[in-house]
Amino acid sequence: MTTIAVTDIGSLVTNDRSLGDGELGLRLGAALIIEDGKVAWVGDATQVPDADRRISVQGRTVIPGFVDSHAHLVFAGDRADEFEARINGVEYSAGGIRTTVAATRDSSDDELRSNTARLVAEMHASGITTFESKSGYALDVENESRSLRIAQQFTRETTFLGAHVVPSEYSGREDEYVSLVTGEMLRAAAPHAKWIDVFCDRGAFDVDQARAVLEAGIEAGLAPRIHANQLTDIGAVALAVELDCASADHLTHLTKADIEALSGSRTVATFLPGAEFSTRSAYPNAKALFEAGATVAIATDCNPGSSYTTSMPFCIAVAVREMGFSPERALMAATRGGAAALRRTDIGGLSLGMRADFAVLNAPSYIHLSYRPGVDLVDSTWVAGQNVYQR
Ligand code: NIG
Ligand code: FE
Repeated sequence: MTTIAVTDIGSLVTNDRSLGDGELGLRLGAALIIEDGKVAWVGDATQVPDADRRISVQGRTVIPGFVDSHAHLVFAGDRADEFEARINGVEYSAGGIRTTVAATRDSSDDELRSNTARLVAEMHASGITTFESKSGYALDVENESRSLRIAQQFTRETTFLGAHVVPSEYSGREDEYVSLVTGEMLRAAAPHAKWIDVFCDRGAFDVDQARAVLEAGIEAGLAPRIHANQLTDIGAVALAVELDCASADHLTHLTKADIEALSGSRTVATFLPGAEFSTRSAYPNAKALFEAGATVAIATDCNPGSSYTTSMPFCIAVAVREMGFSPERALMAATRGGAAALRRTDIGGLSLGMRADFAVLNAPSYIHLSYRPGVDLVDSTWVAGQNVYQR
């Protein structure tokens, strides 16, 4: 078993109060030992024990790897024209998804795989060490399960999102499409998915349809999560809490009752700042949720329509500038919050025994993630002690 010492860490965020100061468990002049891909020791750089390999990060900052709990990585084409039209005043609507569905159905496995690989490489370069990925750009039995099989080659956090929008060939026959999703499509998808998701919003699926989709998924052994309150509030948050969804995502439009429901539940409130940015929506204020005690996450929502970014630092910077996050809360939300949204306890921090997933920043502190917006600060990224990205 080889051990690696990562030393000369100027500033180390562990997310573990017992290892350093405050919620972030911050320590200066630190080192850590990795054994078997896990964190085995954290302490002062002056006292680092012997190890087989020694890596000096030369005074840089080390943070837990970002956990991106919401992304749509398997698709073809892009929608730059739609983005430009939006900047010129056209409103975002769920219907744009159908453009990507047509392109995705027309693509070969190799094309989809290489587009996904490109996005995963971008994620690593932005410090993301775990990511979720959804289907939802195929919307037929064969291609939804194909999308999940491709996603599975990159992550174990795969999500069946057959209920993303009703495809054109089912227009006017929405309930028939819901039956397909909850029947044959789910049976083909379930072996390749861990999660079931539904876009419960205006122009997509109503609360009854969403409940049918999530309940069928649960019945098939998948765990539920939901796209909630992006375009308007139709009651998706109450459904999320009722079904004990791991996470309710977007939350652009939140009522007081939603905030109370989330804070009294196990459902994580996941914000997607890239989506408000790219759809030119007003930003929600996350403060009321912190104050009520809800667990909060930040994710990229990487997709070609509403948020075509793989950059967690960008999402953090927007969340800090526009959504009531402090730099500390934003970092917590993009690491431990994301892990909670995936119901994972082995990632999201650098406590002893956790997977050694971390990013090294060319910066003296984590605050620079939002203080230096748009600047690529990630020097290297490590998953289970293995270097997956080096600048
Ligand atoms: O999470 N809101 C629904 N789904 C995606 C957007 C899909 C698209 O526009 O292609 C989202 O933002
Ligand atoms: Fe999404």
